[in-house]
Amino acid sequence: PVSVTKICCIGAGYVGGPTCAVIALKCPHIQVTIVDLNQARVDAWNSPDFKLPIYEPGLVDVVKQARGRNLFFSTDVDKGIQEADLIFVSVNTPTKKSGVGAGFAADLNYVESATRRIAAVAQSSKIVVEKSTVPCRTAESMRTILEANSRPGTRFDILSNPEFLAEGTAIEDLFKPDRVLIGSLQTPEGLDACQSLAAVYANWVPTERILTVGLWSSELSKLAANAMLAQRISSINALSAICEATGANIDEVAHAIGFDSRIGPKFLRASVGFGGSCFQKDILNLVYLSESLHLPQVAAYWRQVVDMNEYQKRRFSKTVVDTLFNTITGKHIAVLGFAFKADTGDTRESPAITLVRDFLQERAYVTIYDPQVDEAQIWLDLAEALPGVPLENIKKQVTLAPSALDACKNKEAVVIATEWKEFRDIDWAAVYAHMNKPAFVFDGRLLVDADALRKIGFKVTTIGRGQRA
Ligand code: NAD
Ligand code: UDX
Repeated sequence: PVSVTKICCIGAGYVGGPTCAVIALKCPHIQVTIVDLNQARVDAWNSPDFKLPIYEPGLVDVVKQARGRNLFFSTDVDKGIQEADLIFVSVNTPTKKSGVGAGFAADLNYVESATRRIAAVAQSSKIVVEKSTVPCRTAESMRTILEANSRPGTRFDILSNPEFLAEGTAIEDLFKPDRVLIGSLQTPEGLDACQSLAAVYANWVPTERILTVGLWSSELSKLAANAMLAQRISSINALSAICEATGANIDEVAHAIGFDSRIGPKFLRASVGFGGSCFQKDILNLVYLSESLHLPQVAAYWRQVVDMNEYQKRRFSKTVVDTLFNTITGKHIAVLGFAFKADTGDTRESPAITLVRDFLQERAYVTIYDPQVDEAQIWLDLAEALPGVPLENIKKQVTLAPSALDACKNKEAVVIATEWKEFRDIDWAAVYAHMNKPAFVFDGRLLVDADALRKIGFKVTTIGRGQRA
């Protein structure tokens, strides 16, 4: 097997950036260059004061140690490709917005153009690693493109190496992954390439955690893992609706079922719904795959996980309206949190966007505070969520606040949309003192101590806790 000395990563996003920064940190003998077409993004990765384009705990430390030593960020994609012996393709694969499979299938345009670029400029043999999450058999298409365009004497081996990191804990996850998965063709060349990549990870990952499988199993395992994780959340959220209707408590139910070692305690936190760039996209991808394989019952089964999530978000905004005496028109609501989960500034598919949209459509006034999300991003997301509504009209109904306490001043209700720890720890008595009365709190994340807040005087509604209890 080739011993890898130079790695190029195409795509300096949430996955390519942290993943390859950690490879550089852990493998000082390997030169790692992360390339991207987006100049502003690359500039931010290179910024002298480490104002990186993404917020991720621990990331700045990693970049500080490796940048300029064996970690480089550049917009020179061609040079990156030419110099490397191993190339990660870590570009975005969003859900298609138009054409065949619109709303379900993955848009493979970015993967294809990166692959075509590799074919066009490579002058020596490369191991090409599919890091992006892609439908089954994408590696096959990449191989066809590369082989049809390769120069004599250059060969391309394709591997699938999906990424399992979660945002907010990316660095921890990369330092100590549950597993690293590598898929390859089961030919001597394919297995050699697999060994070359496995040797990179073996610099810090115990070998028993490096799993090697066939190409398609690897591709499908990524979709399967995300589908099963999301399914757990939709299951607990479905149960939260039963709890609210009966007086049972979803915390107690999750605790009780999580004690079963076959079920396990993790990922059973009821919420206002899951968000993030992966779960919905990957399940819809699986739905599309199932349909293309003429398996409509399988497609319907997975589709229901997304439908339940939509239901949960709608159910929560309806609870807010119902509790506020069936109308929120003209009322003032503080929304705490805009990111899709805590410890990230990422808002992709954030349930907060859906909630704010629903509140605006009910003609409420909304004030938003999030500790990490850029203001410009909030305006972009709201404009996209309310097509046809001019931004200046949105701005008449929405304000952004510099702190949680500021956001809550003179409001009728507070809605917790993201589980930022600081929202649990704010001075709720001070919040109460500055709110209009009766003061309502809607906890969409099982975050605050509801009884303590009730003692202060708040009227508290929590996901998954019945009023009849
Ligand atoms: P992202 O949008 O943050 O980053 C992708 C980057 O690729 C962008 O900066 C874009 O400019 C760049 N790019 C696109 N086409 C390019 C090209 N031809 N040449 C050079 N650069 C190009 O996306 P992301 O969140 O990092 O996700 C990347 C992939 O990883 C997706 O397939 C996603 O499903 C998967 N994934 C994401 C996560 C996550 O937590 N975000 C976790 C696991 C897997
Ligand atoms: C997910 C997968 O966890 C990760 O392995 C994969 O590589 C990418 O997709 P991510 O979307 O970054 O990671 O975060 P995750 O922690 O999975 O949370 C996704 C959403 O589910 C968030 O909105 C989170 O708040 C929500 N969630 C999570 C719950 O509502 N309840 C839970 O118990 C866990």
